[in-house]
Amino acid sequence: MKFLQIFLLVFITSCQTKDNIQFNTIILPQPSSQTIINGQFTLSSKTQLVTTEDFQVSSSFLKNFIETGSPIRLLESDSDTKISFQIDNTIPSKEGYKLNISETEILISAQTDAGAFYAVQSLRQLLPHQLENQTYTEHKIHIQAQHIEDAPIFSYRGMHLDVGRHFFPVEFIKKYIDMMALLKMNTFHWHLTEDQGWRIEIKKYPKLQEVAAWRDETLIGHYNDMPHQFDGKKYGGFYTQEEVKEIVAYAEKRHITIIPEIEMPGHSQAAIAAYPHLGCTGENPGVAKLWGVFETIYCPKEETFAFLEDVLDEVLALFPSEYIHIGGDEAPKTQWKKCDSCQALILNEGLTDEHELQSYFITKMEKYLNSKGRQIIGWDEILEGGLAPNATVMSWRGTEGAVAAAKQGHNVIMTPTSHCYFDYYQSDNDQEPLAIGGFLPLEKVYSFNPIPEGLTLDEEKYVLGAQGNVWTEYMQDEKQVEYMAFPRAIAMSEVLWTTEEHKDYSDFVKRLEHFHKRLDALNVNYANHLYEIKGEIQSTKNGVQFVLKSESSSNPIFYTIDGSNPTSQSVNYEKPIVVSGDIQLKAAVFAKNGKQLSSVFEQQIKMHKAVGKQIELSVVPSEVYGGSGAEGLINGIQGSNKRYGDAEWLGFWGDDLVIKIDLGKETEVNSVKTRFYNAIGQWIYAPSKVEVTFLDSQKNSLSTHEAILTDGGKNLKNVEVKNIHLKVRYIHFNIKNYGTIPDGAQGAGHKAWLFVDEVFVE
Ligand code: ACM
Ligand code: ZN
Repeated sequence: MKFLQIFLLVFITSCQTKDNIQFNTIILPQPSSQTIINGQFTLSSKTQLVTTEDFQVSSSFLKNFIETGSPIRLLESDSDTKISFQIDNTIPSKEGYKLNISETEILISAQTDAGAFYAVQSLRQLLPHQLENQTYTEHKIHIQAQHIEDAPIFSYRGMHLDVGRHFFPVEFIKKYIDMMALLKMNTFHWHLTEDQGWRIEIKKYPKLQEVAAWRDETLIGHYNDMPHQFDGKKYGGFYTQEEVKEIVAYAEKRHITIIPEIEMPGHSQAAIAAYPHLGCTGENPGVAKLWGVFETIYCPKEETFAFLEDVLDEVLALFPSEYIHIGGDEAPKTQWKKCDSCQALILNEGLTDEHELQSYFITKMEKYLNSKGRQIIGWDEILEGGLAPNATVMSWRGTEGAVAAAKQGHNVIMTPTSHCYFDYYQSDNDQEPLAIGGFLPLEKVYSFNPIPEGLTLDEEKYVLGAQGNVWTEYMQDEKQVEYMAFPRAIAMSEVLWTTEEHKDYSDFVKRLEHFHKRLDALNVNYANHLYEIKGEIQSTKNGVQFVLKSESSSNPIFYTIDGSNPTSQSVNYEKPIVVSGDIQLKAAVFAKNGKQLSSVFEQQIKMHKAVGKQIELSVVPSEVYGGSGAEGLINGIQGSNKRYGDAEWLGFWGDDLVIKIDLGKETEVNSVKTRFYNAIGQWIYAPSKVEVTFLDSQKNSLSTHEAILTDGGKNLKNVEVKNIHLKVRYIHFNIKNYGTIPDGAQGAGHKAWLFVDEVFVE
């Protein structure tokens, strides 16, 4: 396939007609096979559309796209050039298709209308982007002749949108669905209820509209900014049932299933604010105005189940999807532990604890939904206390939930935070708009393999697919949702559609650069970090070198090492920069005409005494926060002040940590220092104790120091041991994890994360 791709790229740039028109052959997500042949098809008002009842959605989408996008009108009567739809039951996949373009015919073959719809999306991308915003004025379109055979690798290809934290208009939901359709995604997970707002009209419970849909005010800035400040503005809204029906019908016309999420038992503070008797205390908590996890959750009692069944009855009437998402995540058991009714239920049902009570809750709701012919999906917390018999698990806190569920024979959908949380930062540039935290660049999304490790081939079949999650605490408007969702959703579409052997990130970047024109025509406010510079330090036989690259390699990089700003007259980066002492590197990408295309990349490299030496950790870092490995702690580069998910920070979930550094020979050491991330909103805690021991080459301890944690700026804690003046071979850091997150804090009861940065030895 490498060969074919190279061939295609050459072809794209060299394929010129007599009229000097370039034919676009780029398709996202990359098809299974695409073979360019000689010739071209000319689409015009002399082209006949030949279709049948079987292809209503796909053929009317195509007709509408061409006729609203251009002056071309398709013929119904017989003609010499045709676009034809035909059933082909030899195509192995229900969502697969063949698209054969010759000089006289565009032939779309599929088993189903859905398959043909994906052929149409491919064909759409072969047409000029001007059709997307109805600015194509010519009466002919030339299309490169080719054969495409294509099918998805996963049956669940999703995007999620949280409309609880921020509310988005019907027109935007349709645009989001349109974008999913363009990318051949088939499931929209609509997160409709939250602590901060209930967003779906339920006629039997008018206070959900009057009370639960509105919060008094909204947090300004980040949750971690103390003290919290609020904007004083009432905020909210909801979708009427008529609007929901309209959106469901709109999605059906794009072969997209909408899975509604009605959260239970947690994330239900807004509903309890409307109907306080649904909680354990009977008190009105108010609709939440802060982000996070709240202790006010539904009390598992008759009134609550009756309420939820009534709500679900109305939801089921609106959504034909087989699956209904019932949430299940982040439900603190604090109130259940103190509630007489909850405790009596535990006793009567012979349950061992509140986790089994949650399982009882979810299983009861599952029975109800199963009795109506539906299946439930829940976040991976529904594993705790025992999985409901038929539930599908949406694995978000890593992949362990998915593995456990698949081993029990349950279907799973992958949304681990590490690769699927599009509310995380996508660049470590300080100018990025405020986000919740984390770091999930495009390439990491693209590298995602939805099949988790630890499953047998048989068990892998339970992995239905994956989705990008868009939680909107820090996305006030549609523009910001688009910025966070794109282009990462495009990478996700290729993760879910394209086979591994046809995936190639640098080729994806080239196709994406080209796709920008279509996104512009669609007025999508996508993020563009393709020219942003990334750096990597490397150890070599002779020392250390620094490598620079940008995702798009078509423009040169210029750099300085003295801290001055780079210009197109600075040193042209051609090979790795050899680092022999401390440097302050700055670099930027420039266009051929000297215009600066990227922001300035900055990297301080400190050649301290441990750089390039030996290091050993007592535990391996978390698979998802492994940074650049143990060596990254002594590579001379400090992690970002803001992004613990970068290549320099190492994350450990719940473990104590021993770091052992071997300087190779006894070396004069005067001070050591490092730092820890401390963002309790994200479950990250500085350690409870840090001890540093210095040893000689016989491993005799020379001295041990307890290092005091000091304030290192926002979300950072420093430790430093100074004035040592010893000849040292080995340095040991004994780092005690904070332990269990205390009650009342985000993630209470869970293990705390520990994040450690560069260890400087001087
Ligand atoms: C989640 O992110 N709470 C599912
Ligand atoms: Zn209770």
